[in-house]
Amino acid sequence: MRALTGQVIIITGASAGIGEATARRLARGGARVVITARRPDRLEALARELDPSGANVLAVAGDITSDADRRKLVAAARAKFGRIDGLVNNAGYGTRGPVEIVPVETIRKNFETNLFSLIALTQLVVPEMRERGDGCIVNIGSVAGKIARPLSTVYDSTKHALEAITDGLRGELKPFGVRVTLIRPGFILTEFVDAANAVSKEIVDQAGPYAPFYKDYHAGTQRLRTFAGQPDDIARLVERALMADSPAARYNGPFHAKFFLFLKWLLPAAALSFITRLRK
Ligand SMILES: NC(=O)c1ccc[n+]([C@@H]2O[C@H](COP(=O)([O-])OP(=O)(O)OC[C@H]3O[C@@H](n4cnc5c(N)ncnc54)[C@H](OP(=O)(O)O)[C@@H]3O)[C@@H](O)[C@H]2O)c1
Repeated sequence: MRALTGQVIIITGASAGIGEATARRLARGGARVVITARRPDRLEALARELDPSGANVLAVAGDITSDADRRKLVAAARAKFGRIDGLVNNAGYGTRGPVEIVPVETIRKNFETNLFSLIALTQLVVPEMRERGDGCIVNIGSVAGKIARPLSTVYDSTKHALEAITDGLRGELKPFGVRVTLIRPGFILTEFVDAANAVSKEIVDQAGPYAPFYKDYHAGTQRLRTFAGQPDDIARLVERALMADSPAARYNGPFHAKFFLFLKWLLPAAALSFITRLRK
C-alpha cells in the first residue's frame, strides 16, 4: 500500500463531476494535485477551497485537445512540484445519435477528447515515470466501454477503444514499474447528461426516422437515475488504485455497474442486443 501524501497527481476534467470529487478526495488524502479543465473560474474556486495557501494545489486551465495546453499543463506541474507521480485521465463527454446521422467530424471530435488527447497527455508523462521506475496512470473508462447501446454508439466506442489502450499500455509499462488501470463507472450523477444533451442537440433534433426512439432512450436514462451513484463513489476507486502496490486491471462501481458487467459476461450477445434494442 502506498501513501498518497506528497504524491503529485494530475487530474483532467476536474471542474465538475468525477474529476472534481477525485481532486477533493486526493487533496484531503495529502496528495499534491494539479487540476485541469477548460473553465478557469471553476478550477480556481476548487483550488482555493482545497488549499487556500496554494502550496499543494495547482489549477491550470486548458483544453485537453490542444497540444499547447497539454504541454503547458505538464510543464506547470513540473515547475511547481518537480515531478509527476500520477495521471488521472478523466476528461470526457458523450455524443448521442445514430451512426447514420452523426457527422464523422463530430465523431472524430469525441474521439479527440476521450481518446487521442488522453493518449497524447499520457505520452508526455510516461517518460519521466518510466525512467524513475514508478508512477501510475488511471484511465476513467465506463461500463459503456463493454456494453454499447444504440444512440450512444459514438461515446461507447471511444470507451471501448480505451479498454484496449489501457490493457496494451499496462503490459508495455509493467516492466518499468509504471502501473496502469481502468475505472469503469456506471451511471453517476454529474453534469455528464446535460453536457451530452447540449453537444448532441442539433443531431437529436434532426434525427429523422430515429426520432421516435429517443423518448424511450431518455426514459431509460431517467430510470438509471434511480440507482445512480455519486462522483465520490468513483473518486474512492481512483484513490484505491493510486494507493495499491499492484492495482487491479479494472475497478468497477458502483454496484449496478458490477451487475451490468456481470450480465455482459453471462449473457450471449443476442440476449444483450435484445435488452439494449431500440424501442418506440
Ligand atoms: N457520469 C457518468 O455516469 C459516467 C459514467 C461512466 C463514465 N464516465 C466518465 O467519467 C468522466 C468524467 O465525467 P463526469 O461524469 O464527471 O462528467 P462531467 O460532470 O460533465 O465532467 C466532465 C469534465 O471533463 C471536462 N472536459 C470535457 N471536455 C474537455 C476538454 N476538451 N478539455 C478539458 N476538459 C474537458 C469538463 O470540464 P470543462 O467543461 O470545464 O472543460 C469536466 O470537468 C468522463 O470520462 C466520462 O466519460 C461518466
